[in-house]
Amino acid sequence: VPERGDAAEVRLERDGHLAVVTIDRPKALNALSASVLTALGETFDALAAEGPAVRGVILTGAGGRAFVAGADIVALSELTPEQGAELGRLGHRVAATIESLAAPVIACVDGFALGGGLELALACDLIYATDASSFGQPEVKLGLVPGFGGTVRLPRAVGLARAKELIYTGRRIDAAEAVAAGLVTRSFPDRESLLAGARTTLEQVAENSASAVAIAKRVLVAASGTPTETATQLEVRGFEDAFRTDDMREGVAAFIEKREPRFTGS
Ligand code: CAA
Repeated sequence: VPERGDAAEVRLERDGHLAVVTIDRPKALNALSASVLTALGETFDALAAEGPAVRGVILTGAGGRAFVAGADIVALSELTPEQGAELGRLGHRVAATIESLAAPVIACVDGFALGGGLELALACDLIYATDASSFGQPEVKLGLVPGFGGTVRLPRAVGLARAKELIYTGRRIDAAEAVAAGLVTRSFPDRESLLAGARTTLEQVAENSASAVAIAKRVLVAASGTPTETATQLEVRGFEDAFRTDDMREGVAAFIEKREPRFTGS
């Protein structure tokens, strides 16, 4: 897929055992060019390689106007159908990389989360947003359809009927409606409280067993959308895997001995 002019920028910062990934291309409202997508995939691969040292990730957009305003429309205009498919596969790979990270990822949306931007947020474990944010799948307004998982993950998040309404109309919804629809878990008055809220949640998660959280995430992601029988089998396997961990032995022993557990993540 051809890449477009200006250099893609994805920043990775540390905050103790948390990581903050920022898409920093504000001139194009953080639109996802192939180079931004590639950089995002590499960043999440690097975080995965760190293993249990990373206990949670915040994914956000720079510039104060957008999380991500979608795939880069200028770049899309030049693609052949085959290149479009290639871009779609790249977007799906990035989403899968986020979903396969052991630690939870919170999308912190402050502004527009549209098209591929909403799809990227949907690949995260949770979406937190400022009140001034808006969400939509406007692809049909461009003669396009969602290409980075919107037809798959949006119905899972909001139900099939709401997803159809959003995808067919292309209309934008505000944060209040997104919370009511179950798309956004929490909303905040401003960016500062948004990031603080996400940190608080991730720190709360980090108090628990990292291996248990990772197994829970793996099962939730794998079971989502599968038939009940498959989903329950996946859960049994995850339950069994938890029994194999030191953390499970420690957690139940600590409960019985009426003390705080000392988890190691193994
Ligand atoms: N791709 C490329 N550039 C984009 C962009 C995008 N998705 N969204 C915004 N920009 C650029 C604009 O072209 C503009 O650039 P210039 O200053 O060089 O003209 C700059 O960002 C600021 O945008 P606007 O001037 O349009 O700002 P606005 O406040 O008037 O409107 C907006 C904001 C409503 C978000 C509007 O920019 C917009 O509608 N953007 C496109 C949203 C969209 O359709 N997204 C879906 C893309 S397709 C997709 O994502 C496919 C998929 O599923 C993978």
